[in-house]
Amino acid sequence: MNMQKRVFTGLLLLMSVAAMAQSEPLQNIAGRKILSLNGRWNYITDPYENGYYDYRHKPYDASASGAGGFYDNKKARGNDLVEYNFDNSPTLRVPADWNSQSEKLTFYEGTIWYRQQFTLAPAAGKKYFLYFGAVNYEAHVYLNGKKLGMHKGGFTPFQFDVTDKLTNGLNTVVVKADNTRHQDEIPTINTDWWNYGGITRDVYVAEVECTHILDYKIQLDKSDAKSIIGFVSVAGNGKGQAVSVLIPEAGIKTQVTTNDSGYAAIKLTPKQLSLWSPQNPKLYQVQLVLNGDTLTDKIGFRTIEVKGQDILLNGRSVFLSGICLHDENPLIPGRLRSQGDMRMMLQWARELNCNYVRLAHYPHNEEMLRLADEMGLMVWAEVPVYWTISWQNPETYANAEKQLSDMIARDKNRASVVVWSVGNETPVSEPRNVFMGKLVARVRQLDNTRLVSAALEVHREGEKAYVNDPLGEKLDLASFNEYAGWYWGGVPSNITKYAYEVKYNKPVLITEFGGDALGGYHADENTRWSEEYQAALYRNQFVLLGKMPGLRGMTPWILCDFRSPRRQEPYYQDFFNRKGLISETGKKKLAFDVLKTYYQTMQQQYNTGNKK
Ligand code: GCU
Repeated sequence: MNMQKRVFTGLLLLMSVAAMAQSEPLQNIAGRKILSLNGRWNYITDPYENGYYDYRHKPYDASASGAGGFYDNKKARGNDLVEYNFDNSPTLRVPADWNSQSEKLTFYEGTIWYRQQFTLAPAAGKKYFLYFGAVNYEAHVYLNGKKLGMHKGGFTPFQFDVTDKLTNGLNTVVVKADNTRHQDEIPTINTDWWNYGGITRDVYVAEVECTHILDYKIQLDKSDAKSIIGFVSVAGNGKGQAVSVLIPEAGIKTQVTTNDSGYAAIKLTPKQLSLWSPQNPKLYQVQLVLNGDTLTDKIGFRTIEVKGQDILLNGRSVFLSGICLHDENPLIPGRLRSQGDMRMMLQWARELNCNYVRLAHYPHNEEMLRLADEMGLMVWAEVPVYWTISWQNPETYANAEKQLSDMIARDKNRASVVVWSVGNETPVSEPRNVFMGKLVARVRQLDNTRLVSAALEVHREGEKAYVNDPLGEKLDLASFNEYAGWYWGGVPSNITKYAYEVKYNKPVLITEFGGDALGGYHADENTRWSEEYQAALYRNQFVLLGKMPGLRGMTPWILCDFRSPRRQEPYYQDFFNRKGLISETGKKKLAFDVLKTYYQTMQQQYNTGNKK
């Protein structure tokens, strides 16, 4: 067999072994027995990927020996030549993006190698998984010098079965994280948010029994609010396993038995049930018991549906008083690092009288969804199918569908999630309609208990703006972004002469509107970048949007100023998108109270049942 063929075979073998190590992420990772690997990891910046390719640009980890890359964590002995050394390298905090941790890395796009070491005494009869909450964007993961596998996608969890790869003692994890943007990826090369790279979410080693609960879904039946349905799946020797399902406060104590493939459907009739809502964010303790092993979760029960132009939460028409959020802390720009960061963001949303948030434009941290459950905020969750995606590339579609499926798999038990969004502002074309239509179908296949939508675009002719995107036919909501008063339509007082014509008889949700204001800059209402201009824009938007009979909610863009590489005006922007209602110093701008008051009025109208 010639050299080329040997290398190719080696590569295939390696990829198949690596692929074998990757396994479906455990549902409710935080409820498992976990060892956290969070903390300071040594790192090596590697712009030329010198730790991955040899000088002939062949991947070290595809070579027969598999030796040579930085993942080997080699230490120079005597006169050895080793041109890297994690022990003497600086450290980065994990979880956190690298851009916000060092001036040198603010704009860095490329590869960074991370290394962490931990001691573990693996027990017989147990299985061990190495779990990552998210790595942006492409991660190659090695344990004790051996490749576990590769993952693409910057915002969804992944894990590897490391049961027979751990040593009884010191173990070394090395991660090659690469946030380089590419046209054919999801998202594509052009976005209006900072390309924060690195291990941005938690890293755990989870220990479970060989036969363990892998996944479950326990939600209110969409068609019958008196019954709870779902499933539980058992991995390992999954066949014929008895799983107890207990929801004590709902008077449920039952048992199901898995079939030959380790799967058991669940159908429960609670004796009493207090439905989850923003006014009453009731969460029930749910316990799943397998062979004496108890897995506990907190789950809320509610229904969400559309009827004509109404959105019904538990059968009642609601107005979604929302706001958009990026996964970024304005005060210390960078990905939200902890529960404290996330609680601060959602607390600001509550202060705004919101009952709803749009977590743009990608899956946020699982903890964010659990907090939304607890704090009573409905959620629009979204995958980063954003702008000019490579619609005709099958690998791009597979990537988008995988990120969508992984988001739904992770958050399917969160009462707060009411909308799955398949994308944002994607330009209309036949290939795009096919691509997005398949994603919509995939959502309906995976989860029929929630709404599916996308943020569409409007197109304008004279003083009319039309919402007639063909994708809208397939969505549950007529949801679209519009920037009257900022990107078009003149000054704020001028926009009330326009009118939106929505082709669909569906609830109308404005997924974005807004304008920039530099916090603390004051001028008259017609002076761009002033807080007065932004506040006037919001007041006139309510007049413009109030003309639509089907208006059932909005998520103005955006709660906080956020970093963007596309916003270079040195004084007003300085690489910040300034559409936030809160500045990056935590200052609430004038428009904050304008929106807060408007939502107060809308909630009063809906709560007294006499919505206009
Ligand atoms: C778009 C896009 C946002 C962007 C915003 C803006 O609608 O969805 O991601 O930040 O407009 O231009 O500020």
